[in-house]
Amino acid sequence: MDEKKVVFSALKPTGDLQIGNYIGALKNMIKMTEDYDCLYAVADLHSLTVDCDPKLLRKRSYDFMALFLAIGLDPEKCTLFLQSHVPAHAELAWILNCFTQFGEAKRMTQFKDKSAKAPQNANVGLFAYPTLMAADILLYKADYVPVGKDQMQHLELARTIAERFNNKYSPTFTLPEGITGKRGSKIFSLADPTAKMGKTDENLNGTVFILDDPDTVMRKFKRAVTDSDATVRFDPQNKPGISNLLTIYSVFAGVSVEEAEREFAAADYATLKTRVGETVVEYFRPIREEYARLIADKGYLESVMKTGAEKASYRAEKMLAKVYRKVGLVR
Ligand code: AMP
Ligand code: TRP
Repeated sequence: MDEKKVVFSALKPTGDLQIGNYIGALKNMIKMTEDYDCLYAVADLHSLTVDCDPKLLRKRSYDFMALFLAIGLDPEKCTLFLQSHVPAHAELAWILNCFTQFGEAKRMTQFKDKSAKAPQNANVGLFAYPTLMAADILLYKADYVPVGKDQMQHLELARTIAERFNNKYSPTFTLPEGITGKRGSKIFSLADPTAKMGKTDENLNGTVFILDDPDTVMRKFKRAVTDSDATVRFDPQNKPGISNLLTIYSVFAGVSVEEAEREFAAADYATLKTRVGETVVEYFRPIREEYARLIADKGYLESVMKTGAEKASYRAEKMLAKVYRKVGLVR
């Protein structure tokens, strides 16, 4: 009965959600719930690929669910769940491992970066990260996957694996398409405008978290690294800091980058930084308040997780059974 296209996305609870996550992924995820059949997960299993404290992981899984709801993901309109609550993800990932070339996984930029950064913890899970991600997506026959630019390579690999499987057996998986926003598919650190803003950066002054209090947000924006020139102009090549601020402003003020550029044409950098900071503070104020209310209600969060996992499991199990049958496992 449901003819809608399917959307899947997930975020891993390895750090607190930051505005780059919001602009790159969450914003599109919210918008897509209007027209599509959307499933969104907290990728808790993926978090285990990096060293993470058990208490924090558990806390963040609740935090993420509360924030999903607070930013406007409605559990009546989409399926929200924790990845580990649906065992089919790990089960399909194993099968997909057997359809992925060692060389393909080794070429992944994220694997190369993360294993170089923390060689003492370059574990097999980190290596197989993209196949678990492919399983997340392929289980639900997702047509679209809203993500930031950095995840596009993983998405390509998911398509390759799906195609390989389909060709070897018969059409089974839908080939997913990655969706990045028109603007802001990569938001840069305020402390280093040539590096991606991340939730686990060493320099957290460069990362603005959704739940940062207003003073912290303002302080981070006021200290944003820019350039020694004095004109506000969108020019990512030569003025990465200013261009990043204009992008952030445009998203949260709901204007185009050109409009933002015009608005600040005569402004000095301090004015721009203050205005961007204030806009971000106001945008997230109701979200912070709603989050505070929800996080105090563990029972409700658990009921959302449970309902979501049941809905997702029903669909995932059907796909997993099909895959098991095709590869020759006795059911
Ligand atoms: P991560 O924080 O790496 O788990 O990413 C979760 C989602 O947010 C992914 O779709 C990323 O591509 C996206 N994302 C993370 N950081 C940024 C950023 N600085 N700019 C744009 N998108 C981002
Ligand atoms: N790898 C993604 C990230 O780091 C998170 C993720 C896990 C994901 N599974 C996914 C994203 C499936 C899209 C679809 O951000």
